[in-house]
Amino acid sequence: MNNFTWHNPTAVLFGKGSVAKLEDYLRAANVKNVLLIYGGKSAFKCGAYTQVTDLLTKLNITFPELNDIKANPRIDKVREAIARIKVSKIDALIPIGGGSVFDTAKAISAGAFYDGDVWDLFEKKAPVKKALPIFGVLTVSATASEVNGISVITNPEKEFKTSIESQLLYPAVSVIDPEFQMTLPEKQTIHGGVDIIAHALERLLDGDPNSEFMDEQGYALVRSMMRIIPDLIENPKNYDARCEYAWAACVAHSGFLACGRETRGDFSSHKLGHSLSMLFDAAHGATLSVIMPAWARYVYQDNPIPFARLGENVFDIYDGTDEEKAIEAIEALEDFFKDINAPTTLRELNIKEDDIENLTKNAAKNLPFGALRRLDEKDIDEIYKLAY
Ligand code: NZQ
Ligand code: ZN
Repeated sequence: MNNFTWHNPTAVLFGKGSVAKLEDYLRAANVKNVLLIYGGKSAFKCGAYTQVTDLLTKLNITFPELNDIKANPRIDKVREAIARIKVSKIDALIPIGGGSVFDTAKAISAGAFYDGDVWDLFEKKAPVKKALPIFGVLTVSATASEVNGISVITNPEKEFKTSIESQLLYPAVSVIDPEFQMTLPEKQTIHGGVDIIAHALERLLDGDPNSEFMDEQGYALVRSMMRIIPDLIENPKNYDARCEYAWAACVAHSGFLACGRETRGDFSSHKLGHSLSMLFDAAHGATLSVIMPAWARYVYQDNPIPFARLGENVFDIYDGTDEEKAIEAIEALEDFFKDINAPTTLRELNIKEDDIENLTKNAAKNLPFGALRRLDEKDIDEIYKLAY
């Protein structure tokens, strides 16, 4: 095991009715004026908006709003909010939503204290030095943005979807009330579920041979998710399954699964997926069910062992050589994605073969990346072709 620092400062208020518990935290931080941030209608439909604004009204906290945050959130909304905050008195941010809304809040919280253009932080021209506190209310589990310090934002002018990460960007508090997720469309439950599984697989398949204990946590998570996702497709209002799904999301990408590993994960599939979202606005989870099996097929021969162990521990594949088990495991993973109706080809995302050249160029902007195999531009091109 490698040295590591584990420091996750987010207070998680989990379960039915947990918005009420925010009161103590807002009082303790002496919050008087917040910027309320959300996407579209879902914040109202799921009940979170009413619960939060009732609490803020009771506490005499003002709450100007920033809404219409889209999936795959863009830098223009971040800039708009920072300009507003710089001429008003905002002492905290309250995102109500999923990864896109939380990520937007984090970018705003960092940009509020930066004198230049906030995109500089994403281009790593400047570090995050100070940030506004975030008291978030989650309405869709998937990304674990509610328990990590990562913000993923798209800059359409630069044709770049990329991330920043800072200890200062962990939400101070995240309310996770799985009841808010009862209104999720089936598609979102599927995409979110794939993302959760992918966050575990990015670690399990990074080629680190010395992380057995952490690998076991990852296998357990993938096995559970493979049960929970079909349960929720069958019965979207199953509260216990919503709870397990929500907590699995947190465990998958809070940083916990990366503890002690040689790398923080492979994450090639995420990088290649970001270009599909950048250029074709594809949903994040959908990009992963398309790319991950193609990436696996392209790289497994470099090191079949982690794929074979995945086969044994998740798919009960015990016969054959490591290479044979690896091939079977990749097929089983892809079959699972097909079974839950997640896309597994670029064609299902309406992407044409001719688009691959552009996709490759876009993803290559993120190079170097990859842990099990360090990719180059030619590898990227081949993986997109395999995914076609
Ligand atoms: O627009 P509204 O009406 O609000 O609808 C939203 C949105 O369309 C809907 N939704 C949210 N809660 C709902 C609901 N619909 C019904 N009932 C509810 N309770 O869900 C749609 C998608 O929301 P979004 O926030 O985009 O989903 P997700 O949480 O999957 O976030 C995806 C974004 O996070 C980034 C992705 O790249 C993508 O941009 N990621 C962030 C990470 C992080 N911060 O650590 C890591 C991830 O790997 C990922 O890259
Ligand atoms: Zn992800």
